[in-house]
Amino acid sequence: MEGMTKDKVEETRELEWALIPPREVSQVDGIVLEKNICNTWDKVWNFQAKPDDLLIASYPKAGTTWTQEIVDLIQNNGDIENSRRAPIQLRQPFLEWFRRVTPGIDQANAMSSPRTLKTHLPVQLLPPSFWEKNCKIIYVARNAKDNMVSYYYFQKMNKALPEPGSWDEYFETFMSGKVMWGSWFDHVKGWWKKKDSHPILYLFYEEMMKDPKRVIRKVMEFLGKNLKEEVLDKIVYNTSFDVMKKNPMTNYINDPEMNHNLSPFMRKGVIGDWKNQFTEAQNKRFNEEYEKHMADTSLSFCMEL
Ligand code: A3P
Repeated sequence: MEGMTKDKVEETRELEWALIPPREVSQVDGIVLEKNICNTWDKVWNFQAKPDDLLIASYPKAGTTWTQEIVDLIQNNGDIENSRRAPIQLRQPFLEWFRRVTPGIDQANAMSSPRTLKTHLPVQLLPPSFWEKNCKIIYVARNAKDNMVSYYYFQKMNKALPEPGSWDEYFETFMSGKVMWGSWFDHVKGWWKKKDSHPILYLFYEEMMKDPKRVIRKVMEFLGKNLKEEVLDKIVYNTSFDVMKKNPMTNYINDPEMNHNLSPFMRKGVIGDWKNQFTEAQNKRFNEEYEKHMADTSLSFCMEL
């Protein structure tokens, strides 16, 4: 697109985006996943983790990228330039994903150790080698209402995911758990339970928003690092929403499957945005179902400030 005006580049990107066919979905053990993943599921399931692998796991749109950037900066002792060496999806392979041609598994296998990997898989679908090798895992969860709204806008702008339909339609799809990577309820509860028998640091998007430095320190300790206060402050600043939104290595601006004009990847980054989206009736219905789904867990979430 060299020599084109900024407007022309935008227009060309929009046209190219419109022509990308949507990806298809299928299921593994009742969990909706992208078809390529399902067709090569054995390859994912038989992935060989190594004892020094670190895994960042989450339900989609829970603050994964934010956590990934925090981890990368801690691992690099706060070296900003080093963390800008490549887009986040190349620094930390997305295990089960097909990045158009290169599967995350191949990316991970080609990488030297120690590796940091990302997954959205529900706990029961995680390749068993992660448990066998006792790998450290960081899980990040976000309250269901904001998570749902964020996922809706992401499905609108990302050709790698199914078209969400109207908000009312999407509300039903999300509540039924027939979205990619399955039910939010089962996901957050499954990983929460697993932390009793495995080294999992369970984080919340909302606690990261309220006190990022405290969470960054927690992650640092989990990784066995010891960084100075000023380095922690630098990491807080460089992983703030405004800085990450402008950082091409974290904002997915160059991903051709995403249309940031429809909705930017770094969209709002707030707690309680669901209030702008849920109708009163949806909120009532959601609260009733939420209570039933969450009756068998000690897990609790902050849904507004
Ligand atoms: P919104 O759509 O609500 O804005 P994931 O990385 O799991 O896909 O999550 C994306 C969500 O995290 C988006 O939420 C995005 O704006 C938000 N996010 C990303 N980086 C953030 C940051 N540094 N601070 C706060 N929110 C952030």
